[in-house]
Amino acid sequence: MCGIIGYIGDRKACEVIVDGLKRLEYRGYDSVGVVTEENGKLHIRKGAGKIDELKEKLRLNEMPGNRGIGHTRWATHGIPNDINAHPHTDCTGEIAIVHNGIIENYLELKEELIKKGHRFVSDTDTEVIVHLIEEGLKDFKNLENALRYALLKLKGSFALGIIYTKDREHLYLVRNESPLVLGIGNGEMLFASDIPALLPYTNRVIFLDDGEYAVITKNSFVIKDMRTGEIRDKQIQEINWSLEMAEKQGYDHFMLKEIHEQPKAVKEAFYGNVKTIDKVAKEIAKYEKIFIVAMGTSYHAGIAGKYLFQRLAKKVPIVEEASEFRYEAEDLVDENTLVIAITQSGETADTLAAIRLAKKKGAKVLSIVNVVGSMATRISDLVVYTHAGPEIGVAATKTYATQLTVLAMLTAALAKHLGTVEESYLKELENQIHDLPKYVEAALGYENKIKKLAKELKDKRDFFYIGRSISFATALEGALKLKEISYIHAEGLSAGELKHGPLALIEEGVPVVAIAPTGKTYDKIISNIEEAKARKGFIITLGDSEELKEISDVFIKMPKVDELLSPIVYIVPLQLLAYHLAVLRGNDPDKPRNLAKSVTVE
Ligand code: F6R
Repeated sequence: MCGIIGYIGDRKACEVIVDGLKRLEYRGYDSVGVVTEENGKLHIRKGAGKIDELKEKLRLNEMPGNRGIGHTRWATHGIPNDINAHPHTDCTGEIAIVHNGIIENYLELKEELIKKGHRFVSDTDTEVIVHLIEEGLKDFKNLENALRYALLKLKGSFALGIIYTKDREHLYLVRNESPLVLGIGNGEMLFASDIPALLPYTNRVIFLDDGEYAVITKNSFVIKDMRTGEIRDKQIQEINWSLEMAEKQGYDHFMLKEIHEQPKAVKEAFYGNVKTIDKVAKEIAKYEKIFIVAMGTSYHAGIAGKYLFQRLAKKVPIVEEASEFRYEAEDLVDENTLVIAITQSGETADTLAAIRLAKKKGAKVLSIVNVVGSMATRISDLVVYTHAGPEIGVAATKTYATQLTVLAMLTAALAKHLGTVEESYLKELENQIHDLPKYVEAALGYENKIKKLAKELKDKRDFFYIGRSISFATALEGALKLKEISYIHAEGLSAGELKHGPLALIEEGVPVVAIAPTGKTYDKIISNIEEAKARKGFIITLGDSEELKEISDVFIKMPKVDELLSPIVYIVPLQLLAYHLAVLRGNDPDKPRNLAKSVTVE
């Protein structure tokens, strides 16, 4: 989704802005724009394309002034081109604005504004905002009041940055259902869509809440409620992510770095929660009606979570994509319901809407989140952090491993509390949870083998991933990783489904990746592998039993770990396979086409 960065201080604003935009690149974008101000004149340079090429072409690092705003656009209304790129200006050219989100009533507003004589140049929904502010200035004379006049007319989601030539000491920022963080520096202020863009300058931040705006100078800030205009008292938070954590550190891509960080991430997830998890489990124990809601990779963690709940705590949660839940669950959720939301960013629009619906109906909401201070953490009753550190690669990797770790810890603690599984088994499981970094490290040891395999498979058109029981989640997630970064068609299937249709697609040489740890349904998946093999599929198996070798074209021997923990370990070779295939096919795994790191629109 779009990225926003704003700066006011003594530095050359354009340099801070271009650097910040690079750090927000992972969010996904198709156009770039920067506005700076000097001596009461706005300087705007923008265009469709990538930051590196536009930096040279538009000389973005040579713009005058010590205050300014930058934007990366991920097109929603209007094709990606130079005109639709942000910033947008009003008729006088004195106010410039950047926007992340969607203005739902823009057509009606545009019509009214055109009737009043405003001239529009782009196809964007954003442009109505800046003309509305211009309209507000006619009555209110100062920008803050004109801004509030405009904001109260908008329906939809918007994070905004605003600069006005006649208001030389200030910048304005607004948050409503799209993320924006204020960074408080020393004699300088910044704001950005996400923390990594702020880290070179400060780790002291304020997370704006929905319906808040801020007026900043280089030395001060004031945050207000956009509806009432009242000042909001906000807490400054210190982020303990270091700048290095948000940099590549010698790896070719963030995704590869983050895959390799998994042993550490899983360890942090464990130690970050081990003391408090029992308390959360006791809260969960009170509920029989449990929903797990999430999207994408986090949804796959939810599917694994369902098996953990069933097997360990004998509870059957309903796992739903948040995008479905938000429209289906109105009459199903009440004060006796627990909703567990899983979200890396804590800003996914559908997941936030699901949380809000659950809260409205009186349900208890527990969120499993990575980004500290994100919106999900502020609207939930209980929060468990995954402690994975910043994840910059668009494809979720280490955050998935940590979500699974947290779910394993939670359900094991729940089982202990409820006495639903044998003590000796639970003890062994707890030991293995503690040792997860070791197993994940061992799985990383297959990288060379995977690289070779990727060379063999790079021209394949379709992949099938199959798994039973909790490995179904691994099949889904393995397939998603492949699709999103290598652009190869892939399906994740519960292996039992194979012969109910998809088997028709298995022909000579089609890769079938079978996730087959020893466990409850091990024998069953062997039969499914045989079915695929009989159709001459190219069989790749992941498992801990040597006998798989005989029925496989390629066998990846995994460390022996309890089946319920296997998703955390078995996903590693599948992430590496997707990564190396993407690189071999000439794709940038950190910035897959059409995708954004956090999906902040519906
Ligand atoms: C896939 C991926 C997405 C996210 C999904 C939810 O690699 O990253 O599918 O998992 O957009 O995002 P969060 O977890 O931030 O709610």
